[in-house]
Amino acid sequence: MKTEEERDEKALAWQVGVWDRISEVYLREIDKRFAPVVDQVIRRAALEPGHNVLDLGTGTGAAALLAAPIVGSAGQVVGADPSPDMLDLARQRAAGLDHPNLKFQLGSAEAIPAEDASFDAVLACLSLMYVIDRAAAARECARVLRPGGRFVAAVWARAEECDIVLFQQTAGRFAPPPPVSGVGPGALADAAPFISQLAEAGIEAHVETESLGFDFDDFSSAWEVLAGVTTAALDTEKRTEAKAAVQAAMWPDGKGPRHFLNTTQFIVGRKTP
Ligand SMILES: C[S@@+](CC[C@H](N)C(=O)[O-])C[C@H]1O[C@@H](n2cnc3c(N)ncnc32)[C@H](O)[C@@H]1O
Repeated sequence: MKTEEERDEKALAWQVGVWDRISEVYLREIDKRFAPVVDQVIRRAALEPGHNVLDLGTGTGAAALLAAPIVGSAGQVVGADPSPDMLDLARQRAAGLDHPNLKFQLGSAEAIPAEDASFDAVLACLSLMYVIDRAAAARECARVLRPGGRFVAAVWARAEECDIVLFQQTAGRFAPPPPVSGVGPGALADAAPFISQLAEAGIEAHVETESLGFDFDDFSSAWEVLAGVTTAALDTEKRTEAKAAVQAAMWPDGKGPRHFLNTTQFIVGRKTP
């Protein structure tokens, strides 16, 4: 029988594979659509010059790149992510900018590559839904935060209120089952269990909700951006069925532009002093 550790390792490798594969389309097409979420994370973090900040699940570096000029040369920003390809793009993006206080590092939320109490703020923008062992992630966030340090995560709401979750869950029904359950865009729609895990670890947090969103010109461009890469391995029949199901659920009139209304939950907290 497989141990839990082996299952989690396999699941992390599967996650990394997905993010590596979509890294280019993410930077080109998704990053700009998620910008309002990243802005709200940064606003809630109330960063100040001199702060040390961790951007956990930094992806292509959006939140880290905004944090770096705020904390300035007296502070430091670390962007950590388990996907080497997402990190490569984050590094390329930062290369043209003058942020000597910003570095990117391979690492996951379950095992953060940092010393105890080394950050004034931990940010996790749209990344914690993909974490395999969320209790371990809560403990790790608490460990690396200094007492009184701030925690801000963004997670999607449930499919009924969040079109990107509806899209992904509808398409995902046609894919082979993932190696673990409870991981994916809607995994923290009910944030209460994770808030309890944070509290147990020493972070008192609550949820603040915002209606945010983005647009696509038509169904085909949305499909290409949000499912083109992830459904590429499906056989033609399954891919056609997935496409038809998403179109029926989200473009009932067929074509034309569509606004994705994405209710976003911000989990905002502090490490208890
Ligand atoms: C939707 S992207 C968000 C990227 C970025 N924070 C942003 O807002 O653009 C999700 C990110 O979570 C990362 N991720 C997946 N599993 C993770 C884990 N166990 N720990 C930390 N990050 C993880 C992925 O590699 C990916 O870069």
